[in-house]
This record gives sequence, C-alpha cells and structure tokens, in this order.
Amino acid sequence: PPTVKNPNPIYTSHLHRTNHPSMEAQAVKSNLVLILDYGSQYTHLITRRIRSLSIFSLCISGTSSLKSITDLNPSVIILSGGPHSVHAPHAPHAPSFPDGFIEYVEKNGIFVLGICYGLQLIVQKLGGVVGVGEKQEYGRMVVEVVKECGEGLFMGKKVGDKQVVWMSHGDEAVVLPGGFEVVARSEQGGIAAVQDSGRRFYGLQYHPEVTHSPEGMELLRHFLFDICGVTAGWKMEDVMEEEIKVIKSMVGPDDHVICALSGGVDSTVAATLVHKAIGDRLHCIFVDNGLLRYKEQDRVMGTFEKDLHLPVTCVDASVQFLSELKGVTDPEKKRKIIGKEFISVFDAFSHDLEKKLGRKPTYLVQGTLYPDVIESCPPPGSGRTHSHTIKSHHNVGGLPKDMKLKLIEPLKLLFKDEVRELGKILDVPVGFLKRHPFPGPGLAVRIPGDVTQGNALDILRQVDEIFIQAIKDAGIYDEIWQAFAVFLPIKTTGVQGDQRTHSNAVALRAVTSQDGMTADWYYFEHKFLDDVSRKICNSVRGVNRVCLDITSKPPSTIEWE
Ligand code: XMP
Repeated sequence: PPTVKNPNPIYTSHLHRTNHPSMEAQAVKSNLVLILDYGSQYTHLITRRIRSLSIFSLCISGTSSLKSITDLNPSVIILSGGPHSVHAPHAPHAPSFPDGFIEYVEKNGIFVLGICYGLQLIVQKLGGVVGVGEKQEYGRMVVEVVKECGEGLFMGKKVGDKQVVWMSHGDEAVVLPGGFEVVARSEQGGIAAVQDSGRRFYGLQYHPEVTHSPEGMELLRHFLFDICGVTAGWKMEDVMEEEIKVIKSMVGPDDHVICALSGGVDSTVAATLVHKAIGDRLHCIFVDNGLLRYKEQDRVMGTFEKDLHLPVTCVDASVQFLSELKGVTDPEKKRKIIGKEFISVFDAFSHDLEKKLGRKPTYLVQGTLYPDVIESCPPPGSGRTHSHTIKSHHNVGGLPKDMKLKLIEPLKLLFKDEVRELGKILDVPVGFLKRHPFPGPGLAVRIPGDVTQGNALDILRQVDEIFIQAIKDAGIYDEIWQAFAVFLPIKTTGVQGDQRTHSNAVALRAVTSQDGMTADWYYFEHKFLDDVSRKICNSVRGVNRVCLDITSKPPSTIEWE
C-alpha cells in the first residue's frame, strides 16, 4: 500500500499531542472513505454508518487544505451537507473544498459523492448553476427513479421505482454541468440524485445516512462496494492490534506512563489497552474525592484489580476535597476547586512515582474520543471556529507546565459505541462498559449549593443507589442514557409515622440521549415511580419528599449544576 506522508495531518498539536499514525496507516490498507464536513448535523452519522460496513472512514473539515486530503490518500470522498448556501461562493460562510481538489480527484480516480450542500458544491464548481429552489423540501419526501442507471446510483431499480427519503434543503441544482444526468427526482419535480459516472462524480439531494431514509443504507453500501470497489476489512480486532503496536513503538523501553482512571468507560478502556501494550510500566491512579457514588471506590477498584489486573493506586483524598469545598455554593467555583485539587493529587502521585522509579513518567494516557477532536465546519453565526472543541471539563488541560507529559490517546479516532466494542475485546466486563456516564465533579453537581451541608452526600448516595438499583431490577438501565438522584437543599413538611417531619426533598432525573448534547426525560411507568418513591422515603432517614425532573435538554441541562 502507498505510504502515508504525514502520519497525522488531522490534528493540530494540542498540549503535547503525540503523533499517532496507527489508524491513518490502517486507512490506506482498508480504503479510506474521507468525509469533508460542511457543518451538517448528520456528518458524524455518515462516518458511523460507513464504519458499520467495516470500512474505515474519517471526517475532517470541509475547508481542510489539499495537502491534508492528499496525505490521507482516500479512495472515496464524501462532501457532507451543511447549512450554508453556495450562492455567495466568496463569502466566508460558503465553505468549499480547496483549489486543485477537482484536478486531484480526477487525476487519482477518486470517487466523489456530494450529499445535499455537497451536491450543490459539485454542481457549482463543475460549471452548473445552483439557485434558490422554487419549492423548499424539508422532511419526509418520496423520490422516483427517472433513469435506468445500470451500474449507477440506483442499480437494480427501474424507472418509476419510488422510495421514501429525508430531505432538508432550500437551494437546488438548476443547471447540471456537462456530462451529468438526473437519475432521481422528488415528487415535486426537484433533482434528487445526479451522476457523471465517467468522471466518478455522484450527488444526492437527500440524506441517505439517516434512518428516515429507509433505503439509504442500501444505497451507501451499493455506492461504496459496487461502484467505488471499496473492500470491507476494518475490524475492531485490527484496530486493537494496530494500536498496541503503535504504543509499543512509541513508548521507549525505559519510559513510564501514567493514567488517571475515573471509573468511566473511556479511561478504563484506554488504560487496559495501554497496559496490554507496555505492562506494568503503566501506573494508574484512582482518586476518591469524597464525591463518589455509593460504594463506588470498592466497585471500580474491584473491576480494575480482579477483572482487568490493572496496576492502580487508590488515593483517598476526600478530606482534602471536601474541606476546600466547604461553604462554596457557586457551581463553576466548585468545579474549579475540584479540578485544582485533582491536579494537586495527580502531581503528588507523579512525584512519588518519580522518586520510586528514579525518573519522571513521560506519557499520560487520556481516553479522548473522536467526537472530542473531530474538526468540523461550524454553521454561520454559531461563533465556533474550526479548531477542535474539547469540553474543558472533560480533559486535564490544566496540568502543571513542568509535568511536560506527552499524550497517548488511543481512542481518539473512535466513537463511544466503538470504544465499548473494543472494551469487549479487551475483556472489560460488559456491565462496566454499559455504565451510565458520571461527571468528573461527581455528586458535587447533584447537590445545588454547599456539598458539605448536613449529611447531604450520605443521603444522596443512599437515594441514588435505591433509584439505580430499581432501574436495573426493572430491566430498563440500558434504555436510559443517564439516571441519578439530586439532593434538594430545602426542607419540606411531611408526616411520617404519625409525626410531623421537616426533612429534605430529593429529585430523580433520568434521560435518553445520543451524545448528551440534547436529551429527553425518560417516561417511567407510574407503578415504578410509586414503588421507588415509597422505598426512598421509607428507608432513607432525612427524606420525606420525592420529585421527578421532567425537563428535556434544552432548556435544562442534564446535571442540575
Ligand atoms: P450537562 O449537564 O451539561 O451534561 O447537560 C452533559 C453530560 O456531561 C456530563 N457533565 C460533566 N462531565 N465534568 C464531566 O466530566 C463536568 O463538569 C460535567 N458536567 C456535566 C453530564 O453528566 C452529562 O453526561
């Protein structure tokens, strides 16, 4: 296979981000399908759908340089949809592929598929005309094959065959460039699919990647395998082997690596992988910050030690964290204190290690995922730039400068479900892989105000445990993205055992979500809620009222703080 010139052209240096050629090299072997992102909300979905066909796919900004594209040596390029309009080609908000792109793809026999905005870009750049559509087409539409296309986009379909698709566009191609033909139209007469198979350009005005286009996946499969001749072969086992090889070659024989485990899926899978590569030169730390869930320390340490045989030092720093948090009520201030204390514990761990080993650890493992590093083309007016947006509270960007640790991010090209698959291969227990996400600041963001008030933490742990256990017993844990209890810092009147009580109220929160960015509240059966509320009030001293949070995100966030 051709060699990759720049092993890691996608990521700009962030912290001491390590060049990590593994998957790019993999990409060349398995025929990379490269997505150029023009800001559609569905772009990542295209990447995931293609990976689900065992084809390796990467997504980079639609305005990446020609060099970034050629270095990746793709077989197929998909131009995504996006909220922009190609009418103002020189306006900053009409992103496009770089100069020389058309010549490059033609010279190298690369297949190009434009979806929605991507189709309009192709049409305009190849000399056609795009205008404001007479009828804007949004949502569910029916399209009809208008040309028997042999080996083309709708291979096997006859003229007049119809299918339901998902559209979302205002502009439309009005005049096609020479050589292009319309192969499908919407019921309203709009252009739905075009192709110039001689020059290997294809375009769809609808979104084949969404489930609302039921035959979309079949079309993508046919396009990639039958038209483009891509071969499937991207397997999680290969990803694992490749990553292990890369980590082994990157970390010198005397280098030591440290990793902070949160008890969550990502850091656990990342550490397990690195441990497989370099054994006990990996040193993990798990910090009990006093804000963990019921028996959390025992549970996660049990998994690390018994199931994964990971070398983990457990540091109980709860007194240190809680004394710094005493009296603090502002949520962001609480987060900052927790972050700062974490770094001080981590720093001490690293210094201890240095004393023990006689040398500084060189690398830091982070469980960064692909959605955190992906470059995207943000919609106009979003205020976002093209640089990658790592949520500040999700990384340890605030490590002291003198630590100078290089990063190992073995999951940085994977989506969450792929990390779970990798975890399974690495024998991480399935129950652990399916755990709901838990925020870094822990229960501190589930106790509005001072977390050290009364025995709020203790009460919350008990309530949360009853709620989560009930969800597991009802067999609905996996349907829910995240469920937890919140301690409400108010007292309300109750009557328990013929006595008037003045105790705390708690709230229950359970949401469904794809990625935590938006969420809906989970619809429990009344009987479930009735049982769980009774159980909480009957068994947790200090609680006499249970409320259910029925807000989606937006307008609320998932956590209460
Ligand atoms: P929100 O509350 O912003 O949460 O809707 C979205 C997802 O992020 C988690 N979350 C955090 N995770 N540190 C974290 O590591 C934080 O400060 C933090 N705040 C929220 C939250 O649990 C949910 O999964």
